[in-house]
Amino acid sequence: MKLELTNKILKDQRYRSLVNELEMLEKDRIFCGHDIEHFLNVARIALILCQEKGIEADSDIIYAAALLHDIGRVEEYRSGTPHDKASAVIAEDILTGINCPGEMKREIISLISAHRTAESGKTELEKVFFRADKKSRLCFCCKAQAECNWPEYKRNNEIGV
Ligand SMILES: [Fe+2]
Repeated sequence: MKLELTNKILKDQRYRSLVNELEMLEKDRIFCGHDIEHFLNVARIALILCQEKGIEADSDIIYAAALLHDIGRVEEYRSGTPHDKASAVIAEDILTGINCPGEMKREIISLISAHRTAESGKTELEKVFFRADKKSRLCFCCKAQAECNWPEYKRNNEIGV
């Protein structure tokens, strides 16, 4: 499996500096962090879900969206802009900078924009991506459960996909 776009993002200077900044900003965070490990878990779970549900998906699009979906957390910490919106703006810039084809860019940004809400009207792939983001979390053994503001429907209280 060749993940050309994904690996271009990983090597992108702006992306790397945002990931590093996020790590510093979250070093004392008691809740789930937003690091490369989380991003890769989201991609892998999303691909498992696609396989289970018979949804055709381009792995490069899934991985690219997963790498970028929480990158706007930096902006949220700085200015309060919701990170799904900030991530979409940053993703647009980074994807344009690495010459991502327009249709792929549109799909990646739609996954990023839809990753925080579970409302109806989403595509099957957007639903899978939302679910993968939540299933990647270890709520069932989290020490910050009591302080976490996640509603019950988002919490991952059991192992499974
Ligand atoms: Fe996430």
